[in-house]
Order: sequence, then structure tokens, then C-alpha cells
Amino acid sequence: MDHKLRVGMIGTGMISDTHLRAYANNPHAELYAVCDLNERRARDKAEKYRIPHVYTDYRDMLADPALDAVSICTWNCFHAEMSIAAMDAGKHALVIKPLCMTVDEALAIERAAKRSGKTLQVGYVRRFGTNAIVAKRFVDGGELGEIYYAKASCIRRLGNPGGWFADREKSGGGPLIDLGVHVIDLCWYLMGKPKVKSVSGNTYVKLGNRSHVRNFQSYRSSDYDPGRNTVEDMANAIVRFENGASLVVDVSFSLHAKQEELTVKLYGEKGGLELEPELSLVTERYDTILNATPQISSLTFDPNNGFQNEIDHFVDACLGRTETISPVEDGVEMMKILCGIYESSASKAEIHYPT
Ligand SMILES: NC(=O)c1ccc[n+]([C@@H]2O[C@H](COP(=O)([O-])OP(=O)(O)OC[C@H]3O[C@@H](n4cnc5c(N)ncnc54)[C@H](O)[C@@H]3O)[C@@H](O)[C@H]2O)c1
Repeated sequence: MDHKLRVGMIGTGMISDTHLRAYANNPHAELYAVCDLNERRARDKAEKYRIPHVYTDYRDMLADPALDAVSICTWNCFHAEMSIAAMDAGKHALVIKPLCMTVDEALAIERAAKRSGKTLQVGYVRRFGTNAIVAKRFVDGGELGEIYYAKASCIRRLGNPGGWFADREKSGGGPLIDLGVHVIDLCWYLMGKPKVKSVSGNTYVKLGNRSHVRNFQSYRSSDYDPGRNTVEDMANAIVRFENGASLVVDVSFSLHAKQEELTVKLYGEKGGLELEPELSLVTERYDTILNATPQISSLTFDPNNGFQNEIDHFVDACLGRTETISPVEDGVEMMKILCGIYESSASKAEIHYPT
């Protein structure tokens, strides 16, 4: 390609600045177009980042042959149709997590990626945090040996953002698909992406969005409506993999917990690793157990570096300089796990996957 990668942003809401800023910093990318249903919001971002083309219908944006790639940062219910349309129009696509809402949608996106030959990167941004990059090198170097157990939690006490997040039709679910996707993916990725064998999960709707609670600041989306909430408060699950490894996870928007919690822990035959709340390694040397803390700039997920690394990697993949480390197949596997947990909870039974 003899010009910079021309990028269009679809969805200019809360998270879009993280992508826009990172593209603006990348010397091989050019912010070319923005699109949002809310024209004012799109125009504000266009002004802020000096982006020449503004749309309210993403199909019009995709019709421009000069556009090379898109970032999709809209409600989850549009991720599948937008990414498929983008690739069919010859554009590369970065889809923010979750990839979509169902396994069927994920498989349709995978087919579109195959037939178009375009790059589809799933926005698993936490893989690109400094702590995860360092952890992956230790895991790949064999420091943990075979990883047979992982445990992850992402607990909010009063953290239902409301708006479309709380509307199952638009989001596909609550904390499991919104927060669980990050921590399950981190474990699965660091475990070497084992094939899922079965899942057993529970979801609960007991506390609702706790909108009556006073004296507690929490994030609320701009279209917050306390009367509207069709997603679960919390979910837990055990995931079994074909290689015998297992993962235990729990996540919540609403829970009578004493404090917020973010933990990602992996246990292997030779050592252990905690990625969150802070990267540390556990090992044995000379018959002594050692806890080792790396000296790195951030021991927890650092969003600025994480988003910049993610966007730089996507740009490189689109320009043919590398293969993405976060391909569509990983999104398909994750949708199988997430939807399996919802299905297991609804049917009150363990879900088994064909081998
Ligand atoms: N760390 C992360 O990776 C992270 C963090 C937050 C949000 N997200 C994801 O980012 C996405 C957006 O979240 P947000 O917090 O920015 O939400 P938001 O509601 O602030 O913004 C979404 C924007 O998309 C626009 N939109 C919706 N449908 C559209 C359509 N058909 N065409 C054009 N624009 C449309 C809305 O008008 C809105 O401006 C979600 O998928 C969410 O899961 C990821």
C-alpha cells in the first residue's frame, strides 16, 4: 500500500477515544471517517481528531473505496452485521469485545473473514497490556510448566452501567459477556487456548441494578433508566478443557461484596502466575518457594499502553506486516464459552461440546 491505512470509526461513544487517540498516534494510520447514529457525537469526534468524513449510516461509510479499515465500537448487537458488511466491502475490521452476541453470529463473522481474506481482529485489549505481554513470555518460556487450573473474578458491587448495557437485546447479556469476556479470555489465552470440553454455569438476578443505593458513586451510561434492566446481576462458572485443565470464574454488576475485585490467576506444574490485581510469579528454587515481582512499568493492566499496542498491532496486521494474535477463531471459541454458560444456567445442566 502506498498510503497510510485509512481508518473509519463506527460508534463514537465512551470507549471510542481510546481507539481514536491510538490511531492518531500511529504513523502508519490516518483517521479518515467517523460514523455514529448520533450525528452531534460523530461531529464532535471529527472535530477533535480532524477527521474529514462524517456519517450517520455505516453502509454509506463502507461504500467509500478509499477506506481501508474500520474499528467497530457500537452496541454489541451491531458487531456482527457491521463487521461482516465491512469485510464484504473489502475493509479490515477491529471489533471491540465482545465479538458479538451468539455463536451463530461468530461463525458468520468467521465465514466473512475467510471469504474476504481481510483481517478481523477481536478487541481483546487486555492481551496487549504490559503485564499480559510479560506474562505470556514467561508462560511461553515454560516457567509454569503445564497449566492445569485458572481462576478469575471481576466483581463490581454496584456497577451496572444501565442504558444499552442493561438491555439484553442490545448487549447479549450482563457482566458475563461484558466483564467475563476479558478475564476468561486472559486465562484461556495464557493457558495456550485449550479446546473447551464442557461448561457449567449459574446466572443470578437477585439484586437488580441497585439504583436505590445512595452515597456510592458508580458509572452510569448517558441514557441510564433505572426502570430498565434485563441482564443478570452476576454469573459463575466452571469450564473444563479437553486437555484436563479447568477454569473457575465469577463476575458481577451487583453483589453484596465487601469490595471490588479483579483477579486472574494461573497454576501450573512448575509455577504459578497472578496477572491481576498485580503481576507476580510463584516458583520453586533450591527446595524453597519464591514469589517474584517483575520490575515493569505497570503490574496491573495499563489501558493507555494496552490500547496503543492493540491498535499498532491491528495496523501492522492490516498492512501485512504480521498476523493478528487476536483472530476471529478466538472470538468464536469465546462465544462458545460465554453462550454455553448462559445455556447451562438456563437449562440447569452442564453443557458438553462435540470433540
Ligand atoms: N475495555 C474494553 O475493551 C471496552 C470498554 C468499554 C466498552 N467496550 C465495548 O465498546 C462498545 C461500545 O461501548 P461504549 O461504552 O462506547 O458505549 P456507548 O453507548 O458510550 O457508545 C456506543 C456508540 O455507538 C453508537 N451506535 C450504536 N448503534 C450504532 C449504529 N447502528 N450505527 C452507528 N453508531 C451506533 C451509539 O450512538 C453510541 O454513540 C461495546 O461493545 C462495549 O462492550 C469495550
